[in-house]
Amino acid sequence: MDSELIRRLAHVVGDDGLVLDEAAQAPYVEDWLRKWRGRTPVVVRPRNTTEVAAVMRLCRQSGTPVVPQGGNTGMSGGAAPDDSGAQVILSLNRMKRIREVDTVNNTITVDAGVLLADVQNAARDAGRHFPLSLGAEGSCTIGGNLATNAGGTAVLRYGNTRDLALGLEVVLPDGRVWSGLRGLRKDNTGYDLRGLFIGSEGTLGIITGAVLKLYPRPQGRVTAWVGAESCDAVVSLLTRLQARCGERLTAFEMMSAYCVGLVSRHVSGAACPLAGEHACHALIELSDAAPEGLAELLEQSLAGPLEEGLIADAAIAANESQAKAMWRLREGISQAQVRAGKAVKHDIALPISRLSAFIKEADAAVAREFPGLPIVNFGHVGDGNLHYNVLLPLDVPHEEYVHLTAGLNRCVHDLVVQRGGSISAEHGVGQLRRDELRRYKSTVEMDLMLMIKRALDPDQLMNPGKLL
Ligand code: FAD
Ligand code: MLT
Ligand code: ZN
Repeated sequence: MDSELIRRLAHVVGDDGLVLDEAAQAPYVEDWLRKWRGRTPVVVRPRNTTEVAAVMRLCRQSGTPVVPQGGNTGMSGGAAPDDSGAQVILSLNRMKRIREVDTVNNTITVDAGVLLADVQNAARDAGRHFPLSLGAEGSCTIGGNLATNAGGTAVLRYGNTRDLALGLEVVLPDGRVWSGLRGLRKDNTGYDLRGLFIGSEGTLGIITGAVLKLYPRPQGRVTAWVGAESCDAVVSLLTRLQARCGERLTAFEMMSAYCVGLVSRHVSGAACPLAGEHACHALIELSDAAPEGLAELLEQSLAGPLEEGLIADAAIAANESQAKAMWRLREGISQAQVRAGKAVKHDIALPISRLSAFIKEADAAVAREFPGLPIVNFGHVGDGNLHYNVLLPLDVPHEEYVHLTAGLNRCVHDLVVQRGGSISAEHGVGQLRRDELRRYKSTVEMDLMLMIKRALDPDQLMNPGKLL
């Protein structure tokens, strides 16, 4: 990259807004999974929207591709530069202003670089609740959550990030700023521009600010861990609880016995709260702004399935620390997989009514075609979203990993799409699913997305090689 551009970038963001040193660039050029590693001439860290716009104008004038980055916790390789050394990383990690909290309109307006955990805390400090919750909340940013339309463990009750955003501020590839930071629940004035940028994974523009919905703070929550003899039983339990508890059911996570064993072995302090072996487990949580009768409701809702034998055992957390221990067991799966081996990950979504049949077919297909490989099956089953992963040994040779990944992806994703499912429920497409997308999306869908991409980013500078 020519020194003139570096000088101009420094003029915009200040010298401490540039990361030129290769060692200092390390956390930016490799993803959390250590699956994608690239090179960059410079990481640019603007302090505000005006600086982002000025950086974008400079990159456009010089034809320099830009990779937007938040917390770099994405699981699809969307925030990693390629190995050309030509792509600038534009990190939002200096844009951390909480611009406004409006407890009457129940909205919070934040910079894109604000950590999800900090938005949750700001909401709590204002006596409200911002429900988006995922294992990476301590390091992922709101901009990344919006760009990937992140899901997490509260989608069942509150929806995914798309459902939680009312307004956006976006710097376009030509450097103009779209100021759409309106906190309106109704605004029918043309195309859904907000919807276009949410989930666009940095390929259409840079999200620099957002207006997010706030909810009444849950005044009470009750958490339970359940053991059952099949995934079928767990899915049936979900249906029963939804019917009985309605909106008070705010989380329903499923995991196989293998997952629970993996976490118990690889995450210190994590232990299953139930005695005995159960083929399938679930973490269930009720919460409400009006907490009266919550614990009784959960007890009564589990009593029937226990008596009928739909579930084999259940433990209700007696206090906050027991509830936290249950969540640690669930949230520990990502980490446990990384320590135990090389996971071939799938982030699939299906209609809930088809989950059980899929699991049976996929288990049989993987056992038949890839004998001996453990299946790490868990996820947000309340949203029809499974992380149906297959674990390869830590020392699996790279070529074998690539070969097995291609075969397993084809096996699992063909089964998913045949059942009307999606090959990427919440992690996005990034680099990971880009080539498979063409196999599973219709020509019309691909054409529509390419038309939008060409219209907004005609110079193809935004996050090249990702998504499309
Ligand atoms: P990054 O990884 O920095 O970027 C992700 C994508 O968004 C890239 O394509 C990037 O170019 C783009 N981008 C980032 N910021 C902007 C911006 N301001 N404007 C435009 N584009 C931008 N995800 C889930 O959905 N559900 C989960 O339950 C979940 N659990 C996780 C658990 C762990 C332990 C980890 C490590 C990750 C998990 N994730 C989960 C994945 C990840 O945390 C999410 O995808 C998150 O939304 C990424 O946010 P980020 O700020 O790290 O984005
Ligand atoms: C989760 O639900 O834990 C995440 O999506 C991360 C993962 O798939 O490992
Ligand atoms: Zn997930």
